[in-house]
Amino acid sequence: MKLQPRMSALAAVLGGVLVMAQPGYAADKRVTYSEHVAPILQANCISCHKPAGKNIGSLVAPMSLTTYEETRPWARAIARKVKAREMPPWFADAPKGVFSNERGLTDKEIETIVAWVDAGAPGGDLSKAPVAPPNTEAESGGYSLGTPDLIVKMPQPYFVTDDAQDVQGTFHTKITEEQLPQDVLVRAWEFRAGTYVAGKDTVHHMCGGLRPPGFVENPADDAEGEGAAGLSMGCIAGGAEPALLPEGFGMELKKGSTITFNMHYYKQAGAGTGYWNQAEVGFYFAKGPVTYKVHSKSIGTTGFEIPPHKVNYRIGAAETLKKDTLYLAYWPHAHLRATAARYTATYPDGRKEVLLDVPRYDQGWQITYKYKQPKLLPKGTRIDVEMLFDNSADRGAKRGFNPNLTIRNGPRTQDEMMLGFVSYAELEPGQEVPTPLQQQQE
Ligand code: HEC
Repeated sequence: MKLQPRMSALAAVLGGVLVMAQPGYAADKRVTYSEHVAPILQANCISCHKPAGKNIGSLVAPMSLTTYEETRPWARAIARKVKAREMPPWFADAPKGVFSNERGLTDKEIETIVAWVDAGAPGGDLSKAPVAPPNTEAESGGYSLGTPDLIVKMPQPYFVTDDAQDVQGTFHTKITEEQLPQDVLVRAWEFRAGTYVAGKDTVHHMCGGLRPPGFVENPADDAEGEGAAGLSMGCIAGGAEPALLPEGFGMELKKGSTITFNMHYYKQAGAGTGYWNQAEVGFYFAKGPVTYKVHSKSIGTTGFEIPPHKVNYRIGAAETLKKDTLYLAYWPHAHLRATAARYTATYPDGRKEVLLDVPRYDQGWQITYKYKQPKLLPKGTRIDVEMLFDNSADRGAKRGFNPNLTIRNGPRTQDEMMLGFVSYAELEPGQEVPTPLQQQQE
């Protein structure tokens, strides 16, 4: 509150200078932060661009855009990023309007921001600017869905040494009777990779697995990493967000289960770069009855070879649904060479529908595409997942890889992956699809 007078004074100075610099700009038509721009930023940007950041995998937005004072120095960068449609981050072209976490600005909103920046980014009457809502994530220890009902951590902190650069490790934590005395159904889980150095999470990515009691361990699993360690709970990397399942949906968490943390630490080696890490996962229990049990799996392949210098190298995988199935979310996962991902349904009658089209895949943004309303796909539907890879010198120079190698499946960032994760619930005989489903809004 004490900032207010200072801010207005600053705005008055800036505003005054800018008006003089733009004499042709009619005062009453002037686009201002308070009236026109703040509402756009608040609706589309500050979920990430706010103090204390947001848990989106290992990415934390570099600056806060909740007030005029914070926003003004970034005006030019903002205009550039929104014009290029790089902010807010969203990579799917189709379908539109069906995903709850869809981001994007309308042409009009982009024009408004650009006009504002061209006019010198005036503040307007700052007392009328909308006030950003409080950051509730900061209060719940960085968890974006609120305080979890159960937190499970890696068994002990792990030290990533100074000379380490690209380290993999799998850690297991058995949930104790005390922590979880009975089986529960969870509506959400959220990973916290847990090591922040200079505001950046230094964990490159991590994957979580769930092993119910009695799960027979396959020693090869840990080596394989992603998605292998029991039931996959997915992975987080930059840009990933946790998902709250719709009302009536839940994942089984049995007492005595073991959580696996498959960690991938990636940094420059050097004196003083070592750090401790102890990742954790927070579970949110379902409060009401659960009708639909949710699982996740990947439609993908590990048996591929991407030749050196190959551009648009296509890798596909497919699966036919054995039961009527509700799809809840997609998470295409690949590494540096991946340029596009697409999921297509071919219905039993031959009709095709693109379920997700990501024409510019960017491994730096591991986005999960979450349906507002789960998508019903009948038994017999074939799901195809295709990805394109670019092993060219051009892309290698930009992304930091060697294009002279044949690339196979592997856990290191320099290897590739081709995994089309889906989270889904199969309908049991006689089970109906509730419409409209109650969907938790973010
Ligand atoms: C999902 C989270 C998220 C949302 C929503 C988001 N950003 Fe960002 N933004 C980031 C992250 C993370 C970075 C840093 C990484 C990068 O640049 O790719 C970033 C970078 C930027 C940068 C570049 C900063 C620099 O250092 O040059 C600008 C400008 C920006 N965002 C503006 C916006 C605007 C304007 C919006 C809304 C229209 C927006 N962002 C929405 C997460 C987000």
